[in-house]
Amino acid sequence: MIVGGRHRVPGDKSLTHRALFLSALSQGESSVEGALTSLDARSSASFLRALGVQVGPLRSEQRLRIRAPKTLVAPNRVLDCGNSGTTARLGMGLLAAQPFASTIDGDRSLRRRPMFRVAEPLRAMGATISTPERDGLPVMVQGGRLRSIEWELPVSSAQLKGAILLAALAGGVPVRVREPGGRSRDHTERMLRAHGYTVAEDPDGWISFLPDGQLQPGAFRVPGDISSAAFLVGAATLASEGELRLVEVGVNPTRTGFLEVLRRMGGTVESSAPTEWTGEPVADLVVRPSRLEATEVAALEIPGLIDEVPLLAALASRAEGTTVFREVGELRVKESDRLALIASNLNALGVEASAEANTLWVTGTDRPPVGRVVTAGDHRIAMAFAILGTLERASIEIDDLRCADVSFPRFLSALEGLYPDHHPGLRGL
Ligand code: S3P
Repeated sequence: MIVGGRHRVPGDKSLTHRALFLSALSQGESSVEGALTSLDARSSASFLRALGVQVGPLRSEQRLRIRAPKTLVAPNRVLDCGNSGTTARLGMGLLAAQPFASTIDGDRSLRRRPMFRVAEPLRAMGATISTPERDGLPVMVQGGRLRSIEWELPVSSAQLKGAILLAALAGGVPVRVREPGGRSRDHTERMLRAHGYTVAEDPDGWISFLPDGQLQPGAFRVPGDISSAAFLVGAATLASEGELRLVEVGVNPTRTGFLEVLRRMGGTVESSAPTEWTGEPVADLVVRPSRLEATEVAALEIPGLIDEVPLLAALASRAEGTTVFREVGELRVKESDRLALIASNLNALGVEASAEANTLWVTGTDRPPVGRVVTAGDHRIAMAFAILGTLERASIEIDDLRCADVSFPRFLSALEGLYPDHHPGLRGL
């Protein structure tokens, strides 16, 4: 398979959620260029509409307009976050500072994801939050006047850190938070700084927020999502010839961990035309096919590549040797138990792989992947295994590829578009 051309991936999911939430608190009209229009982005848009924020239609190629009211209003319906963990968790943070009660719910997958870890610090700040005994959704949030906290996060998580920072922002109180391991993505911190707030990190890893800025409605420009680009980078790496350029991708260093691991495995990805949009580094990624070797991915690297483990595991199945991912237990509470699904799906395709406790092992093979993939409706599992479907003599049936719409609208046509010369449709998909 020969790859080629210049391609653009959909807008960054994390930045789109945050641009929406911050705009909702910035009285007046804001705009977002390049916003993601996927199902998860729609969940945040409809969450905010229920609170009285005017959010225009999410259409690709069209600037998104958001008009925030003076104060948010109590919703007259349950706030359904669909599959979106970021909407639910950032949403809890926002609601913790609002003087009304609301209920947050989600789909079957989101209902079983951990919310205690968000509820606890928000309670310590003064919000009243009811959670199901088993954890998860639905949760009821009664917000109000908040107080300052100093909080050690139980896991490095940008959703959790973002929820606390958003509560502090909306409530006008200082907070200090610390992550236990590597740093999770720092988009919230960068956006707050862009609005003039002090967000400082000390050498011990404490992040301090001071409510000393001023939210102003403005124009935000969202680059391509590196976590979506990752799948196309993976496909190009597995191709036999050619060169692929992915233009204007967000390359925030807290998101590029998978590029470092891929390079260590022998992958060829160059970053070119660097620039910066609203405080976020942006560049083109140029990828060439490569032969891969196994590597060890250390615990400290995980937060910087948390969404790319399924893809890296798929690539590891084509590398020489056994790749080990340490401390990846957090993958068990993503949109699915990703750790279990990665191992069982690789096994179903004839690859040696196992997930035990918090560790994942994958042994590479040259045998073409043949078999059926179970996604449990998880977008990143579907896309990671679709990449293996591009290999010579692969024959992979994916039970649900449409779930890719959660983060990457028109994923299959984007993937097919990488092979300009000769590919009418991907074999086995
Ligand atoms: C996200 C943070 C990550 C990531 C998710 C998006 C965000 O989750 O997996 O896709 O935008 O804050 P965690 O913070 O739970 O690790």
